[in-house]
Amino acid sequence: MRILGIWDGHDAGAAVVSEGTIEFAINEERLSGRKLDVGFPTLSIEACLNYLNLTPDDIDHISSSTTDFSKTLTRAAPSLKEQYYMIRRRKTEQGSMSALKKKAKYFLTEIGPSRLTEIASGVLLKKRLRAMGFKDKPLLHFDHHLCHAASAAFCSGFDRCLILTLDGIGDGLSGSVSVFEEGRLHRVAAISGRDSFGIFFEHVTNLLNMRELEDEGKVMALADYAYPVEDSKNPMMELFSVSGVNVAARYGSLEMYERLKKILWRYPSEQFAFMAQRTLEAKVIALIENALHATRCKYIAMSGGVFSNIRVNMLVDELKGVTGSFIFPHMGDGGLALGAAMAANYKLNNISRYEFNDVFFGPDFGSQAIVDTLNKYNLKYTKYEDADELIKETAALIAAGQIVFWFQGRMEYGPRALGHRSILAMANSEEIKNHLNLRLKMRVWYQPFCPSILDEDFRYFAAAPETPPFDKFMTRGYRLMPGAASEMKGVISLAGTCRPQAVSERDGRYYSLLREVKRLTGRGIVLNTSFNLHGDPLVCSPEDAAKTFIATNNDYMVIENFMVTRTP
Ligand SMILES: [Fe+2]
Repeated sequence: MRILGIWDGHDAGAAVVSEGTIEFAINEERLSGRKLDVGFPTLSIEACLNYLNLTPDDIDHISSSTTDFSKTLTRAAPSLKEQYYMIRRRKTEQGSMSALKKKAKYFLTEIGPSRLTEIASGVLLKKRLRAMGFKDKPLLHFDHHLCHAASAAFCSGFDRCLILTLDGIGDGLSGSVSVFEEGRLHRVAAISGRDSFGIFFEHVTNLLNMRELEDEGKVMALADYAYPVEDSKNPMMELFSVSGVNVAARYGSLEMYERLKKILWRYPSEQFAFMAQRTLEAKVIALIENALHATRCKYIAMSGGVFSNIRVNMLVDELKGVTGSFIFPHMGDGGLALGAAMAANYKLNNISRYEFNDVFFGPDFGSQAIVDTLNKYNLKYTKYEDADELIKETAALIAAGQIVFWFQGRMEYGPRALGHRSILAMANSEEIKNHLNLRLKMRVWYQPFCPSILDEDFRYFAAAPETPPFDKFMTRGYRLMPGAASEMKGVISLAGTCRPQAVSERDGRYYSLLREVKRLTGRGIVLNTSFNLHGDPLVCSPEDAAKTFIATNNDYMVIENFMVTRTP
């Protein structure tokens, strides 16, 4: 049975699963070029069918997530979603109408699903699907947090674990606590949308003049630059209370915003960021400790946008009661299409385990498509018949301090570039870091980069397990072992933490490249940042790559077996 999962909200997308295999998954932004696109995932669905060489008739079931009031409303009137997208991304003038729409959004999203909204959502989605050729296919709907939970549980590889989901809001909830045991998922508690850690952090991001649901990582990075505030003097600590597996916010979301605004008035931005980060860490950790105790679990798997916070994830992993932790790599709503497909596969076929060794679920491109694109843009290239030669050449460039754009195989699913659509450089240079941040990618200066590192060199990190598997998905921070910082000046935060990707033999060409870098430099480590301009989605096709290469004026790009050099 082949199941198509779809998600038509923030970071829309589609995914196909069959038996226990994830066959394909992609987000609309990669195809439309609009970061975190919110539209109906037409392009993603087409990409699924094209890649797998299927027609709509080959799909047995379709599964979607979230039928709450606001989601249903935007399915009926997609222009509302588009307007809010423009406000959230600050692509429209600030004005009283924008403020009003924003207030309306927070008010409406708290209204949970009902039988009526589920029926209406079904009718509206089926209409869109019929227009794409899906005639009378069964359509199932699954709760927002069940989809997050399914993705975490079924990919975790754990036999028995605590499942925690935390996000802004979906289907009236901002979180759920479940136990995954003997292949079954049991929910033991839910956190209401009013008591949302995710919305709290969204407000903080917004008040710091950043884009909520997008720039939360910048808030976390900025927090490092604050003079610390003790918990007892942190006015945000009283905004939430955690008791057992219950969370209670002192204010509703709109009042919370006003309260945070008052706090910001009294503190500089970096201290405001610090206090918010510290509050999030303390409260989430308290919740997890209580949940572990209540469920007697030693392993934990997490999903939902709050777990994009790698500092929170680091603290979870360091908890004494935690033997192992897993964060679903596409933890935000962008992962819901796959979560919905998995939830359906669980319900219909009882499948609750997936082989989950990588996230390369997107498209790849053959030599002809690449040559056509390079010629179209008049780019100068050399084709290497011998891949080893290409790897040697690329490693030599990196070791000599060059920045190399690297495009190989199937595109990554989720927010991280993991060596298939990456920009690579030496990891030990602050100069390269600054050049990359300020000139090439146009990111803020205080946002750290991350490294890819050979499994055998993972000893640089404290609290890492002694033997593989290590974190392959860049989902959590690690503290560095003493003396390691000088090796990684370009990829550590001011607090001395780092978010590494462990690279093993399974990674094929990327592994060979790191081995060669190690042979030349003594260190099996490179700076790895996503192949895109800041504010754009990760590149998907050779065309996207060529355009980014030209726009940045970089000197080198490796795309499959082709080395592209800048034409003067
Ligand atoms: Fe969510």
